[in-house]
Amino acid sequence: MTQDYTDSGSIQRTFVQTAQAALPELDQWSQITKAEVDMVADMTRRNELSGGTPVVRDFEQRWAAWIGSRFAVTVMNGTSALYSAYFGLGVGPGDEVICPVNTWICTIAPAMLLGAKPVFCDVDPESLLIDPDDARRRITPNTRCIVPVHLWGNVCDMDAALALGREQGIPILEDCSHAHGAKYKGRMCGSLGAAGCWSFQGSKPISAGEGGILTTDDVDLFERACLVGQVNRIAGIDLVGAKYAELQPLGLGMKFRAHPLGIGIASAQLDKLEELNRRRGAYIAEVEAGLKDIPGLRPCRVYDGAERGGFYGFPVLHDPDVMGKSTEAFVAAAAALGLNLGRKRYPNLHELPLFQKGFDLFTRNRGPLCPENGYTGYKPGDFPKAELAAERALFLPELSDPVANAAGVILETLQTAAG
Ligand SMILES: Cc1ncc(COP(=O)(O)O)c(C=O)c1O
Repeated sequence: MTQDYTDSGSIQRTFVQTAQAALPELDQWSQITKAEVDMVADMTRRNELSGGTPVVRDFEQRWAAWIGSRFAVTVMNGTSALYSAYFGLGVGPGDEVICPVNTWICTIAPAMLLGAKPVFCDVDPESLLIDPDDARRRITPNTRCIVPVHLWGNVCDMDAALALGREQGIPILEDCSHAHGAKYKGRMCGSLGAAGCWSFQGSKPISAGEGGILTTDDVDLFERACLVGQVNRIAGIDLVGAKYAELQPLGLGMKFRAHPLGIGIASAQLDKLEELNRRRGAYIAEVEAGLKDIPGLRPCRVYDGAERGGFYGFPVLHDPDVMGKSTEAFVAAAAALGLNLGRKRYPNLHELPLFQKGFDLFTRNRGPLCPENGYTGYKPGDFPKAELAAERALFLPELSDPVANAAGVILETLQTAAG
């Protein structure tokens, strides 16, 4: 998606945050403004291009304070934030990690690459978020971590997820890659479990182009996360205790460090997040309120105490029986009116051959997905609620700075398509 960006008279084509925008003429938000351009130019002039530069350090401190966590470390993307968090938690061969089946594959891939077995759980089809009761049923003595994903900026039932973690002695890792600025009962998402991870990939509510961050209060987790990805940046800086003194200054020699220019961009974007969330939230609330006049369409469930943020997608739920029209027919009618409703933005992971048939991840019949090593795989029908949710979730345009009456135009189009 592109949009004109005007800066002192010059027009540039820029990638905008509204990754999915159908009807782009309804959105006036420009993801890149002078602030990002100036930041990158200044940092480049200062040759602030590698390592834990002042901008990177400031951003980490600011992020930790904002989230309400003791520690934060930036990394090259959300996937490596999750890798660092799993490593921080000691996830390894023989362990199992539970996550909802309807997430982006990068939620679970780092655990797999650390040798842990991915275990999927079903979701609440009204919220599209983790069903903690189903997660409970999938716990075994090997379960090392449970990962609620605040998908599309909506907030998981964290009371239930945290209670489950406490009761079973299993750490909860929050994947906040879609939910920058979301809260639960007054606390920031990402500060509720053992650690929180965010993606700053280009279409995210805060973009670094590519980037990510991890937060935690747990010094052991944080130090291990630094050990695995920060190579010689750790010397005397990130390691707060003496536990790994012998491993300084090179850690384990792996490097997931963020590009400072990306973090500079993210830092300019963090300044604008509150406004972005306010605008997106108001637009979404207006459309959701209007859905009551369209039988067969309803908003996703929001749990008590949840305050959505980021809004990396705007799903609503279609009920063909109530509308008297199949989802295919409704989507086609909306498309004919110029409104493209996204469907199945992520595949349910158990539908992928990787998780159905398995894969010899480490070659020679090794690794957690290897059939010869006991991996049995999933099949269609294993997650009935997520499968139902995938059928009935429709993605509306997620406008960030809607033109006047954009919500009205969208509601009218939906109404006509439904009729
Ligand atoms: C839920 C979720 N987790 C993790 C990631 C990984 O983030 P990144 O693409 O920055 O590696 C993404 C990316 O879209 C995501 O959607």
